Amino acid sequence: MSTLRIAVQKSGRLHDESMELLKDIGISIDNGIDQLKASARNFPVEVFYLRNGDIPQYLKDGVVDAAIIGENVLIEKGNGINIAEKLGFSSCRVCIAVPKTMDYKSIKDLDGKRIATSYPNTVKNYLDTQGITANLHIINGSVEIAPNIGLADAIVDIVSSGSTLFKNNLKEVEMIFKSEAVLAVSPILDAEKQAILDKIQFRIKSVLKGRESKYVLLNAPNDKVQAIIDVLPGMKSPTVLPLAEAGWSSIHSVISKNEFWDVIDDLKAKGAQGILVCPIEKMVL
Ligand code: PRP
Repeated sequence: MSTLRIAVQKSGRLHDESMELLKDIGISIDNGIDQLKASARNFPVEVFYLRNGDIPQYLKDGVVDAAIIGENVLIEKGNGINIAEKLGFSSCRVCIAVPKTMDYKSIKDLDGKRIATSYPNTVKNYLDTQGITANLHIINGSVEIAPNIGLADAIVDIVSSGSTLFKNNLKEVEMIFKSEAVLAVSPILDAEKQAILDKIQFRIKSVLKGRESKYVLLNAPNDKVQAIIDVLPGMKSPTVLPLAEAGWSSIHSVISKNEFWDVIDDLKAKGAQGILVCPIEKMVL
């Protein structure tokens, strides 16, 4: 029987949420400290804890079959690697930043300038599309320090909260692309491993759908039920059940987290009472 080898970041911004996702899809791993590899107890999966930057090559070579990795790393190093699923965490953007004091007007201001980055391919491709040539300084960490020590005129790095740029007196001037954690797949995958991956992907979809939704229960007088149903999306249509008290109903539905507060306001205005909101662990559609 085949085993699917999944790479996750050994340490860093994706690690904790990657492990949490595996746990949420029912994959239990004995995760010893400093372990580089662990087998799942209840599913044909082995987890490899690897350095972020090494994962694309391992995927290309088929050393691992799938990975939870930042899209930014794949775009930089992962030609030919498919994304099976966007995972909705570790959102960031790959940006150009310059010193706050620079009078930046457009990308043309960087023509012939020095740019420090850990993303040379990304930067080169972007500058090519803009018809700009710059001198790239490849640095593997603490890129934001480069302008302050006179090594570069600008940087390209990932930005999440923006606090690292702020602390280093830099300002974001161009966004190259947005990124988030993804499930990436090796181009070398046999049918048995593909079948395991399909099961994992199905579970991930159910967890992600649950994470982005809330289960809502509320009470309403019967004459308000239709008006309330009209503002509730529901999976098929809302559930309506009679309450013990005559003339009243209980309505159950699912609301997307994004539109949640707007819908709640609307429900109250339409006569809903005793509104309960519960998290959804998984949604199997
Ligand atoms: C990344 C990136 C920035 C920082 C941006 O580093 O290189 O330094 O995060 O995040 P912020 O906008 O929330 O401040 P990370 O912490 O992932 O470690 P790294 O330097 O090893 O890449």
